[in-house]
Amino acid sequence: MKTKILKILESTNDYVSGEELSKRLGVSRTAIWKNINSLRDDGCMISSVTNRGYRLEKIPDLLDGDIISCGLDTSVIGKRIEILKTVDSTNEEIKRRAAKGEPSGLIIAAEEQTKGKGRLGKSWDGHKGGLFFTALIRPELSPSEISSITLAAGYGVCLAIREYTGLDARIKWPNDIIIGNKKIVGILTEIAAQADMLDYAAIGIGINVNNRSFPEEINSRAASLYTELGKEINRNDFFRCVISRLDKVISSFIVSMSIDDITSFTGLCATIGRRVSVQRGGRLIEGKATRIDPLGELIIVDDSGNEYTINSGEVTVQGIY
Ligand code: BTN
Repeated sequence: MKTKILKILESTNDYVSGEELSKRLGVSRTAIWKNINSLRDDGCMISSVTNRGYRLEKIPDLLDGDIISCGLDTSVIGKRIEILKTVDSTNEEIKRRAAKGEPSGLIIAAEEQTKGKGRLGKSWDGHKGGLFFTALIRPELSPSEISSITLAAGYGVCLAIREYTGLDARIKWPNDIIIGNKKIVGILTEIAAQADMLDYAAIGIGINVNNRSFPEEINSRAASLYTELGKEINRNDFFRCVISRLDKVISSFIVSMSIDDITSFTGLCATIGRRVSVQRGGRLIEGKATRIDPLGELIIVDDSGNEYTINSGEVTVQGIY
């Protein structure tokens, strides 16, 4: 009901009487009044004038599952979307649900994370303006194949940012997304497996969307869509675009076991052509990142011409944070 009232007020951009709202929605004026108050509690600014009705002045930048799902037609990811006000970590919440038998496709997003997790045991700032969510999938894959799914997820988010904002987002292999030299997205995938079969994967994604500033220690390395565009974006519409892209890229990866358009992936990968270093088996490999193979793995050629295929790990890229 609240979403319907909001839609009418949004499209009118003027006062709409309680009587008209109650006629159009087939409910009593008391029900309209109660829902208007509830919208105000959610943070919407709605003015009311006797004999004229209600006018929407400002919608808060809050995530709304109904708005996000509106017109979204995905095959796996985002079949169900749940928005929490606050949570320790959306990854932890998805893992708790998965342990209770939650099927594939659930996305949990939160307005605030009190213990957001980053890779390598780091934390992830979970405050205002960011988009924090985790998708649960249960594909029939072996645990070793999951790093490619994470690559596919990064590719999907990168495509969505480019499509929605027009910004030149690029992939810092394996799964950070950067604009210029600054990080805008981080991905942490956690899995549970039995023997050689994956039970589930929790793909956790943090996107700096409307963040106005960052803590001192990461300020020189982090950016948001707001800091790059100079204006806020609608997180619900943007989120819908991200889910739709993620679903396409990941579902096609699960079927074909290769990234659909590796040429496009490579073209968007800021790591290619740069000098990189990565730890493998207790040894530091240094060389030039030359290409990405169909599994999304990074090929590095060292100064002696030896070729290495890297499928996961923290790669240091010269010139990027
Ligand atoms: C990284 O770059 O270190 C990965 C960051 C991943 C952050 C996201 S935010 C949503 C999800 N929940 C978490 O606790 N972490 C991931």
